Amino acid sequence: MRNRRAALTAIAGAASLALTLSACGQSGEGGSEEKPGSTKGATIGISMPTKSSERWIADGKNVVKDLQAKGYKTKLVYGEDEPDQQVSQIENMITQGVKALIIAAIDNKSLNNVLQQAKDANIPVISYDRLILGTKDVDYYASFDNEKVGELQGSYIVEKLGLKDGSKKGPFNLELFAGSNDDNNTRYFFGGAMKVLQPYIDKKQLVIKSGQKELTQVTTLRWDGATAQRRMDDILTGKYTSGRVDAVLSPYDGISIGIISALKSDGYGTASKPLPVITGQDAEVASVKSIKSGQQTQTVFKDIRKLAQVATNMVDSALNKKKVEVNDEKTYDNGTKVVPAYLLQPVSVDKSNWQKELVDSGFYKAGDLN
Ligand code: GAL
Repeated sequence: MRNRRAALTAIAGAASLALTLSACGQSGEGGSEEKPGSTKGATIGISMPTKSSERWIADGKNVVKDLQAKGYKTKLVYGEDEPDQQVSQIENMITQGVKALIIAAIDNKSLNNVLQQAKDANIPVISYDRLILGTKDVDYYASFDNEKVGELQGSYIVEKLGLKDGSKKGPFNLELFAGSNDDNNTRYFFGGAMKVLQPYIDKKQLVIKSGQKELTQVTTLRWDGATAQRRMDDILTGKYTSGRVDAVLSPYDGISIGIISALKSDGYGTASKPLPVITGQDAEVASVKSIKSGQQTQTVFKDIRKLAQVATNMVDSALNKKKVEVNDEKTYDNGTKVVPAYLLQPVSVDKSNWQKELVDSGFYKAGDLN
């Protein structure tokens, strides 16, 4: 009897040691080859939303490169803008024994169950660029100052139209576009822009002929350029039989390209009917070329090389039980908790500074943009 009890105690002790090790993210389970006491060689799961946009392809590459430089293995998956696919990809990675997850959500509310599984397996979760909502099982948020992105777009419009310095009074015709309604960033971008634009709308210096002013009326599911193009087509045919569009608030380059196509089909882009001021975001190659050739007017550059560094540092610190560096612990409430965040600064780019911000910074080679 005494021997049996001693044996049971020994088994319980070993089990609790194993639990402690895996709780530290240091166990050798799951087929990865890391040695006990080290997180090097652990596999980190990276879940990105779509390959249909250049930026997410670059995000995936950057995160993989930075994690590998820190001695980790990586598993990178793309959900092709299908929330269910993203959930099952994350489930698979948890089963395969990844030790941490970096996730850019497709639908910010679809991940609660799968993140519960991550929490049960003691896997730290970094919300990448887009905040995951409605769950406590998200540990850190790596992103940009998203409200500032919108402010840069809104300010660009009022400056370019001459409203800001009072050199022009208007009224000017403005149309509004926002991003996907299932992406938390959308309301920050739109809110930031409207903070700047609303006073001019109230004074009737900016007029929205379509009448579509509410966020719910102007979102673009999955940030799809073709969807935005169709909406712009409808607005032009329905509301601009007379008068012209002077400015378009666009939250993202892929959407801007769709809007420009609609405008060009309607005869814009000539000396007698120039294109309106059109904003954007991400400094994607097609849009930088468009800015160089005088079509799209502006974009917001977010240096995603730095975002990858922030996210991979978060993983490395969390796994090694070091203090995770954050610089914002109040803004990003996901409905369940305020997620500690590290926010980077976005930069407005147009014809005047693309060379300095995008080429001199090494983000693109000059040849990429010809
Ligand atoms: C947002 C992101 C933007 C843009 C957009 C469409 O979440 O913050 O930079 O990439 O998605 O992909």
